[in-house]
Amino acid sequence: MKTIHTLNELRQLLAEERAHGKKIGLVPTMGNLHAGHIALVKQAKENADIIVSTIFVNPLQFSAGEDLDKYPRTLEADQEKLATVGCHYLFVPSEEEVYPDGREKQTMVEVPDVSDLYCGASRPGHFQGVATIVCKLFGMVQPDLAIFGAKDYQQLFVIRKMTKDLSLPITIQGSPIVRNEHGLALSSRNGYLSEEELSAATALNKTLKTTAQAIEQGNTDFDALVEAAQRQLEAAGFKRDYFVIARQSDLLAASKDDTQLVILAAAYMGAARLLDNQVINL
Ligand code: PAJ
Repeated sequence: MKTIHTLNELRQLLAEERAHGKKIGLVPTMGNLHAGHIALVKQAKENADIIVSTIFVNPLQFSAGEDLDKYPRTLEADQEKLATVGCHYLFVPSEEEVYPDGREKQTMVEVPDVSDLYCGASRPGHFQGVATIVCKLFGMVQPDLAIFGAKDYQQLFVIRKMTKDLSLPITIQGSPIVRNEHGLALSSRNGYLSEEELSAATALNKTLKTTAQAIEQGNTDFDALVEAAQRQLEAAGFKRDYFVIARQSDLLAASKDDTQLVILAAAYMGAARLLDNQVINL
């Protein structure tokens, strides 16, 4: 696997691959890779010839006071994992390479409505930062296909809508959530948790599952279900962020007649804000 730091070199190498008729698959990340990221690379390999992963801790998607500075940076270990799984190119640009005129002067991509909900409400500007960097990575890599994890369900929704709205010729694929043996969704931010917190954090997935089961069994009192879920999470040591029963089509709160649902949840455990979700098709 070749690690590349400049846009020029990336473009030259990928132009050659394209000239040879190779289909290019992109897996964007912020590094500190775990089995969830590696599953995306494996899926990319099944659907494209040449795999490009990127590692860039994108300052535009962090709010002031968030964990931008302490976000784990583990390049060597990441390179080893990506090489082992057969990734071809790893692009690790500097901030200057990505935002040459400075972040404040960057043209921003804004996906309306959905960017203001849930994670967007808790982290103002977050999805503008995500849409902007992903749009830029699409321009830099010009992939045929890009893969994103279903763990960040709202992010995947934002990226699909941006790609459609900007008529970008890129296929977006989602990839299933990878969990540890106790059901906790893998996340770089799990590293902020103590052993005790890690074990308490499994309540997030358990609560999603019990709520989903109640809905599958015909319970349509969503307000009561959400309140019970929030209490269950608090009893496990979580602090509330959001827990919402939404429609898959637009992520707005579901009504009792909707059949394609997704429960979206975020909650604070210790120093980490954890995300998870559960799709329900009635
Ligand atoms: P990051 O958190 O590093 O995640 C990179 C990709 O891995 C995302 O598509 C995310 O959904 C996926 N992923 C993370 N944990 C996963 C898990 N347990 N199971 C399946 N997929 C998982 O998401 C970002 O970075 C950034 O916002 C980015 C898209 C790179 C833009 O900066």
